[in-house]
Amino acid sequence: MPQKYAAGNWKMNGLVSDLTEVLEIDKGVAGLSCKTIICLPATLIYAADGDPRQHVEIGGQCCHSAPSGAHTGDVSAEMLFEAGATYVIVGHSERRADHGETDSDVRAQVGAAWRAGLVAILCIGETLEQREAGETLSVLMGQLDGSLPEGVTPEALIVAYEPVWAIGTGKVATPEQVAEVHDALREKLGPEISLLYGGSVKAANAAELFALTNVDGALVGGASLKAADFVPIVKALSDS
Ligand code: PGA
Repeated sequence: MPQKYAAGNWKMNGLVSDLTEVLEIDKGVAGLSCKTIICLPATLIYAADGDPRQHVEIGGQCCHSAPSGAHTGDVSAEMLFEAGATYVIVGHSERRADHGETDSDVRAQVGAAWRAGLVAILCIGETLEQREAGETLSVLMGQLDGSLPEGVTPEALIVAYEPVWAIGTGKVATPEQVAEVHDALREKLGPEISLLYGGSVKAANAAELFALTNVDGALVGGASLKAADFVPIVKALSDS
């Protein structure tokens, strides 16, 4: 059975004073049967690492493919690892859109994550235009083929399906749409890789998504910022 993960993505939100929410989440998820990850802005990882957490693991949100060098403003996978991260999101659609990251960039970043000892959370997703043109599965398979290096293992890779049109819009994909994609991903990636859904996941819609056979958890943006919103999602996953 694939590992279940509830992963939060704080995006460009949070100051050190907000790390109390991570500690609240940590308390709230004690005893639950899934893993909980919060992917923090790079500036907060080192501070979070010093806090007395017992359950929540920490991730970064992107990394450069090189270990160091003349790349102003970038952060390497080794830097994230040293600061206390054990996971890193790669290929998020906001990085692809805002920073022009391509599948081959993402592939190099997955390799960098592995080189540094981080688990890569690889995001893939179609735009609304691609879905309406009937291209969803071919776009997603193309992103996987273009961005996965050789040597994938369930210990080092998590895949998150995040339809671009569902991110931050309040417009969650229907269980039928999610099932169609996740069944195809399972077929392609084998029985053990964890497959997360992301895009407007909230406590109110989490249970029906987690009831789907090939959904092993969620990547949650807005609803991961507050323990009061996120802990019920983690509980729904643990109960599923
Ligand atoms: P959202 O973001 O939950 O706010 O839609 C999800 C994501 O981008 O990972």
